[in-house]
Amino acid sequence: MQVIVINSQKGGSGKTMLCKHLSVEAERSGDGPIFLIDTDPQGTLTAWHTKRDAETPARIEVPFDGLEKGLAVLRHHGAAYCLIDTASGRLEIAAELFKVADLVVFPVQPSEDDLTAAPVTVQALKQSGKPFVFVLTRVKANTLITAQAAAVLSKHGQVAEIFVNDRTAYKSPYAKGQTITEAEPKGLAAKEITALWRNIKSCLHVSMQESEKVNAHG
Ligand SMILES: Nc1ncnc2c1ncn2[C@@H]1O[C@H](COP(=O)(O)OP(=O)(O)OP(=O)(O)O)[C@@H](O)[C@H]1O
Ligand SMILES: [Mg+2]
Repeated sequence: MQVIVINSQKGGSGKTMLCKHLSVEAERSGDGPIFLIDTDPQGTLTAWHTKRDAETPARIEVPFDGLEKGLAVLRHHGAAYCLIDTASGRLEIAAELFKVADLVVFPVQPSEDDLTAAPVTVQALKQSGKPFVFVLTRVKANTLITAQAAAVLSKHGQVAEIFVNDRTAYKSPYAKGQTITEAEPKGLAAKEITALWRNIKSCLHVSMQESEKVNAHG
């Protein structure tokens, strides 16, 4: 099982949105079983999940001090991926969560404020030594700030090739807690999220190969 932690210390950066859409996409593309853990006391992911009719992705409730045990149980039950949504502004907790991550997904909006806030999370990630990938989100097509943000971020770490556009569809409600990608599986949002999930899987693959190399060479 691979554990993907979605974190940025900046509030409202798009963590929960990515957690929802990527977990649904992973199941849609046959990469399940997927499990979700919501570690944010705001409970936004949990509230969305409660509205869903679909059985997948599944969500489990795990106390923070029982996280390792909870992940061991998921492994035992054959989970393929566990996606962990996190709160902003709780650096110490985020640092603990990075320890269990195989990859940290770090959403960043191409805005001056997001770029100014990014170093706090970047520093914690570098200290953790865990692989991470920036995902540019709420992107408006062909804007200079997006190119600038990608250039700045790429000096600090890997930037996902797929950018997530700013789409009303990502924040609109659909029947039975569906995401837009379920409601319109052939639409532009679905294509974008399918490509992003592939992109993230390839980051996981590369980081796994690198850690195998490190282990092999002691
Ligand atoms: N690509 C996008 N296009 C349009 N709206 C988006 C996009 N990404 C996120 N949003 C919207 O922006 C708001 C903030 O996103 P989200 O809740 O995912 O951020 P967050 O990082 O989880 O926030 P918090 O730090 O409060 O947990 C939400 O209303 C969400 O629907
Ligand atoms: Mg959130």
